[in-house]
Amino acid sequence: DSAESINTDIITLSRFILESQRYGAKNATGEFSLLLNSLQFAFKFISQTIRRAELVNLIGLAGASNATGDQQKKLDVLGDEIFINAMRASGNVKVLVSEEQEELLVFRNNPATYAVCCDPIDGSSNLDAGVSVGTIVSLFKILPDSQGSTSDVLRCGREMVAACYAMYGASTHLMLTTGSGVNGFTLDTNLGEFILTYPELRMPLEHPIYSVNEGNSVYWENSIQQFFEELKAPQPDLQNKPYSSRYIGSMVADVHRTLLYGGLFAYPCDRKNRDGKLRLLYEAFPMAFLVEQAGGKAVNDRGERILDLTPDHIHAKSSIWLGSSHDVDKYLKHIAQ
Ligand code: AHG
Ligand code: MN
Ligand code: MN
Ligand code: MN
Repeated sequence: DSAESINTDIITLSRFILESQRYGAKNATGEFSLLLNSLQFAFKFISQTIRRAELVNLIGLAGASNATGDQQKKLDVLGDEIFINAMRASGNVKVLVSEEQEELLVFRNNPATYAVCCDPIDGSSNLDAGVSVGTIVSLFKILPDSQGSTSDVLRCGREMVAACYAMYGASTHLMLTTGSGVNGFTLDTNLGEFILTYPELRMPLEHPIYSVNEGNSVYWENSIQQFFEELKAPQPDLQNKPYSSRYIGSMVADVHRTLLYGGLFAYPCDRKNRDGKLRLLYEAFPMAFLVEQAGGKAVNDRGERILDLTPDHIHAKSSIWLGSSHDVDKYLKHIAQ
């Protein structure tokens, strides 16, 4: 009966993180729990704002561009403000990098040890059509004795201590890694809590989906064009079926599908985007960390592991190929030839 079907012992994100702290999980400190509370708050606030956007006239352009040349949407600006205010107020953040802020922000009054890098609204070109967008975050511990500077974030991806994203889709999801696997949560809007719905998520080892903006193929190098042509041919390892194509155009949504179903997501370099389009600190790094922690792989065009790279400025970009290990290996084999 219905009394039996209600789970009365659900694991909220706050409970999850307090328990991980109690059991001494890597990177789960008291300070981290507090920071995660502020992150949760920012995700819920942005989620609500997006869901009401059309009704309160928030769709459309804000009229300015950001450091990497993207036109800003009104919600890019608002999401950025919500995120910055939440991080400043948490008291646990010293340094903040945002896609929408040209320079690094330093909260001098916070006696804090975290550096946070964020893409406040990922996929913002999709906003006005009601397509899923999200917020992507990577976390570092600032260097010992640092007062807060770019050296706290211009570091190798392996030094990240945590990464997460929230995806504002049919439900709001939050996927988190602190370096020991990936756990996924779903926002219960009645409770106002993220509930553990994907404990210890492992991604499928292979799946015949490729996800890339194929409209850019005329700008790709021949070798990349050739690789995708090969995926469209019958695959001997897949009962002679070709790959299917899926591309949403919100990295967060394309990566979310890849984490759950498997497959390959790529944004290679091309003649318009010589270093790729996606930015290391708040797109490539956090997604690579999550994908690897779920059992997948993430590399650049040259096959170098994303987490081995070091950005040379806060908005530095990289090509990226991520997804199920078998599907990424196909690309690695292709470039090894
Ligand atoms: P953002 O909206 O944060 O600027 O990110 C856009 C990114 C990413 O979400 C997506 O994967 C990619 O841009 C899509 O680019 P194209 O429109 O060039 O395919
Ligand atoms: Mn943008
Ligand atoms: Mn983005
Ligand atoms: Mn963005």
